[in-house]
Amino acid sequence: MTNDYFEDHSPGRGTMTPRAWYASSSATSLSLNGSWLLRVSPTADARDESFAEPGFDAADWAEVTVPGHWVLQGDGAFGRPAYTNHLYPFPVDPPRVPTENPTGDHLYRFDLPEDWPDDGGAVLRFDGVESCARVWLNGTRLGEFKGSRLPHEFAVGHLLEPSGNVLAVRVHQWSAGSYLEDQDQWWLPGIFRDVTLRHRPEGCAGDFFVHASFDHRTGQGTLRVESDTAGRVSVPALGIDVATGATVTVPVRPWSAEVPTLYDGELVTAGERVPLRIGFRTVELADGLIRVNGTAVLFKGVNRHEWHPGTGRALDPETMRRDVLLMKQHNINAVRTAHYPPHPAFLDLCDEYGLWVIDECDLETHGFTEQDWRDNPVDDDRWTPALLDRAARTVERDKNHPSVVIWSLGNEAGTGRGLTAMAEWIHHRDPSRLVHYEGDPNSRDTDMYSRMYAGHAEVERIGRELDGGTHKRRRLPFILCEYGHAMGNGPGGLAEYQRLFETYDRLQGGFVWEWIDHGIAHPGLGYAYGGDFGEELHDGNFVCDGLVFPDRRPSPGLLEYKKVIEPVRIHGDGADGTVTVTNRYDFADLAALAFEWSYQVDGETVETGPLVVPRLAPAESAVVKLPPRPAGPEDGETRWTVRAVLAADTAWAPRGHEVAWGQFPVTERTRPVLRPAVGPVSGDGAITLGPARFDPRTGALGSIGTVEVSGLRLDVWRAPTDNDEGTDWLTGTRTAALWRNAGLHRMRHRLDAVELGENTLTVRTRVAPAAREFGLDTDYRWTSDGDRLRLTVSVRPDGEWPVPLPRLGVRLALAAADEVRWFGAGPHEGYPDTRAAARLGRYESTVDELQTPYVRPQENGARADVRWAEIGGLRIEGDPAFYFTARRWTTERLDAAAHLTDLTPGDAVWVNLDHALHGIGTASCGPGPLPRYQLRAEGAEFAFVLSQLR
Ligand code: GAL
Repeated sequence: MTNDYFEDHSPGRGTMTPRAWYASSSATSLSLNGSWLLRVSPTADARDESFAEPGFDAADWAEVTVPGHWVLQGDGAFGRPAYTNHLYPFPVDPPRVPTENPTGDHLYRFDLPEDWPDDGGAVLRFDGVESCARVWLNGTRLGEFKGSRLPHEFAVGHLLEPSGNVLAVRVHQWSAGSYLEDQDQWWLPGIFRDVTLRHRPEGCAGDFFVHASFDHRTGQGTLRVESDTAGRVSVPALGIDVATGATVTVPVRPWSAEVPTLYDGELVTAGERVPLRIGFRTVELADGLIRVNGTAVLFKGVNRHEWHPGTGRALDPETMRRDVLLMKQHNINAVRTAHYPPHPAFLDLCDEYGLWVIDECDLETHGFTEQDWRDNPVDDDRWTPALLDRAARTVERDKNHPSVVIWSLGNEAGTGRGLTAMAEWIHHRDPSRLVHYEGDPNSRDTDMYSRMYAGHAEVERIGRELDGGTHKRRRLPFILCEYGHAMGNGPGGLAEYQRLFETYDRLQGGFVWEWIDHGIAHPGLGYAYGGDFGEELHDGNFVCDGLVFPDRRPSPGLLEYKKVIEPVRIHGDGADGTVTVTNRYDFADLAALAFEWSYQVDGETVETGPLVVPRLAPAESAVVKLPPRPAGPEDGETRWTVRAVLAADTAWAPRGHEVAWGQFPVTERTRPVLRPAVGPVSGDGAITLGPARFDPRTGALGSIGTVEVSGLRLDVWRAPTDNDEGTDWLTGTRTAALWRNAGLHRMRHRLDAVELGENTLTVRTRVAPAAREFGLDTDYRWTSDGDRLRLTVSVRPDGEWPVPLPRLGVRLALAAADEVRWFGAGPHEGYPDTRAAARLGRYESTVDELQTPYVRPQENGARADVRWAEIGGLRIEGDPAFYFTARRWTTERLDAAAHLTDLTPGDAVWVNLDHALHGIGTASCGPGPLPRYQLRAEGAEFAFVLSQLR
């Protein structure tokens, strides 16, 4: 039994042809958002359609908020969310779907406002319903549609009553459309975007297309507005008042993501006034590069799914604005709307604040990869009308946004005739923009070569045009539509990608995957991820891979990205007292920025002042002289910091907001010196060395002065990060699995000797995993000047080490600690390949605040380049500088935790002092750490000077 409308290939029936989306200034409209009645049935046909009849008694139905997903409301009473990355959560037998097909019948009763005009027609608009809806108004069936994140409109004027209107919507979770919507995200049925009724007066605007180009040679903008309904177009600021269809050319300021000049205008038809926000810009592929207004653009982008931890893909306007502001504040200049058109209001914000947009069709058929792409809908003509419908609904809705510079056919849908048909339709309908699609390595249908997660070396080859490929592809510019998989701790290696993008013209930047963790707020778990709702098939926390946490707090990954893509490069040589400033904007000069210098002695700022930097056009550099060095102690570690901040308030951040910075040393640090003055003494049940007491049998440190210390020993284990757990795309290595297989999470410490020398207490050990022949010969050598202690750790690998080390350092436990102070990089964490954004200075924090709340607990919180740290009454100086970590649980408990709520403070504070850490990389999806960031088991010696704080 095939169900005609939700299991057929068609896009639907009864809807109006797609057209431009706009908020009308004059037509009356009525929001139908609010509290609706809902009845969820387990199958599509469990209930008949009588609920759509006026007079139906729905007294026992539940209430649900629209826009919303019913599975995120009602505490599980209406079903639960489910997450899969690319596996279809139902048998693959297109276009059929399972009998178990949760179906939400929705009812909404409304009266027309008193002043609702009684002439003309009306349109009922759905901005997003997942995944298939059949709609009735006052008992009349209007039609059906699929295409979850696309607008669908019905003409309903003839059916409206002044009062007592009944809107009935039957929504099926699964439909043929689900095969086209296999994006890596939660499956969330419901009417999740706005529902609106809009009056359509006689002579109202229908569809219209604003063509606003810019000629960078003449500085002139050309405007032509095509409209179904003839009328006039005015742009007062430009003195424009012309008929629709007419072309007018005037001097204008162009639109760019950096300087998003918009002109307010109006399209006036006989029945309606439509506000226009016009941005003049020309997008083209010229000389093998993506150019806007004649200039090649470097995308510093992110992939953005719509997400809110409480409401899923139903986003309120404030949340959308927050995304845009956060992006602007973090130097991001581009968004790929992965993998569907966003709520239309988001694009208004992109126009207004300035972000380049790749607007992607609601299309992904990734699950067909499991069957070698057999039966892939994009290569089956029966699906082509649905694909073209998706392309048209995307392009027609969003075509008037200057921010949209590229259309994307979809994501991970293999290759096929349907994609070609989409590309041809789009190219024809809107030749003013470029077309993107990543899934075809030959770039058959596209205007750029796009890849995801390619490693640095390959990206460099592409930059040098040594990658080969089809004749067509070789002439195309390159973007990484996804890279830097921001899952958990990381991504590592962003700085090295950026260097490549800045070096090779053909590389026009990339889009980090992805903007936000899709964690679902959960009372017992903090944030839930795949599997937490009992899904039989799921992909765990792969859904939490964003630069911001589910609550939109920036993760260290976002801070790192901000630094790596900063639009001004500030580098210098402290010794010669100059700084070189390079403008890395594509369009803007530096007039919006103010520069300031500061001078630090041992991490403390002793003086600051303004720095005059020329305005500098894009790509220009200037060498600027710093002031004379402030007087100060000659033996300290000294450094200049130069910051570029906003000179005045902008729409997206206040004056003083930091955009870029650089730091460079003047005098280097002197390492701590300790002259041994006392020797170890045995007696009284202890070995005493200066202020410290050791266990006489094991040589284990017990206290330094009155500070109790326990468990001090070599540590090589870390709670694997999501990137450690992943499979390196280049080598096939699963680092965490290798580590566990080698037994690095259960190292044994054999005591070989406790030796009391004249000045030195030496404890000799061998640290090695059970069942393996390799190990680390490790000596701890203690000396003291009577006041302080110096611990020197020497490590010599024994045997063949087949794996890198997670970390190399010592860990210890303090009985109590809360406040932490340090001089080193901060204020946030930094790992070998994620430490560009952490700057040297003096910081204060608490043990709790040092933790980075990755949704799935894992290694986090290390502060890099630490010269000294103070915690729990102990001062620790590094020789050389070290990574500092402190937490209220052991690494083993961190490793065992699945959610943040599994972590509860123990009695002690565990401190790691690391000489080195293995890099982070991005192998949760992509390449692992670059070779230079891998921590090989090699001989090493490092020391700490420890003393009790007074
Ligand atoms: C890509 C895909 C994204 C996401 C990412 C991994 O292959 O396009 O949607 O799944 O991998 O998080």
